[in-house]
Amino acid sequence: MKVVYNSMIIFVKEDYEAMSKKAANMVAGQVNLKSNSVLGLATGSTPEGMYRELVELYKDDRIDFAEVTTFNLDEYYELPIENDQSYAYYMNKNFFSQVNISSENIHVPNGISDDVAGVCEAYDRLIERNNNIDLQILGIGNNGHIGFNEPDVKFEAGTHLVQLDEDTIEANARFFKSVDDVPRKAISMGIRNIMHTKKIILIANGANKASILKEMLFGPVTPNIPASVIQLHNDVTIILDKEAAKYVLEELKMRGVIQ
Ligand code: F6R
Repeated sequence: MKVVYNSMIIFVKEDYEAMSKKAANMVAGQVNLKSNSVLGLATGSTPEGMYRELVELYKDDRIDFAEVTTFNLDEYYELPIENDQSYAYYMNKNFFSQVNISSENIHVPNGISDDVAGVCEAYDRLIERNNNIDLQILGIGNNGHIGFNEPDVKFEAGTHLVQLDEDTIEANARFFKSVDDVPRKAISMGIRNIMHTKKIILIANGANKASILKEMLFGPVTPNIPASVIQLHNDVTIILDKEAAKYVLEELKMRGVIQ
């Protein structure tokens, strides 16, 4: 199902696999149209299936990453990249090591530098020098974060050091031995970087995302729900599985957008 609401395109797919395939096909479309595309990438559970699909497309010779440049949204602060929970590790394992992307075109914020301000500033400059991101993949946190832009974020911020919310620390504890091992800080692209991207694809699956997605789409644009800012972006595609879409579909019915 495809719905256009408030100039955003919303796809509702049968399940996680179909959501992942749709997202991967859209990334492939972007790269096939512009071989030197600059992609903004996310980590977490949601895009794992999309990366799997992209690897399959690559193996089938249907996508070529030779000229692609990537910028990841975020990285934990002071977590060595060899740690299997670092986002650099995740990206390498799930994607980079399995496709023909050149290592000099891969960018993940450096979470272990003594000069955090310098790292953030350099990341912003590098994105600008690459003429900004063509296609940004986003997931969404249960608290409405995108990247690690937690509630009450400053919309004008570029890449910066973030204090993670208790909600986020608890949600991400599932990846660590215990909640105490979850880093308390991260470096994240800011809302300014995300809003400067040319196209956004936000993906979400599962019932636990259903209510925040409704707030993101139909609530006010507010720093309390950082993802709500995408209502102001002019090229947004949202791909959901049925469970995540539950309240969004109810609201669209209520508003007469769908039957
Ligand atoms: C990760 C990121 C986060 C996640 C969000 C959802 O790079 O940017 O905003 O997208 O926390 O995470 P999952 O997909 O694990 O539910």
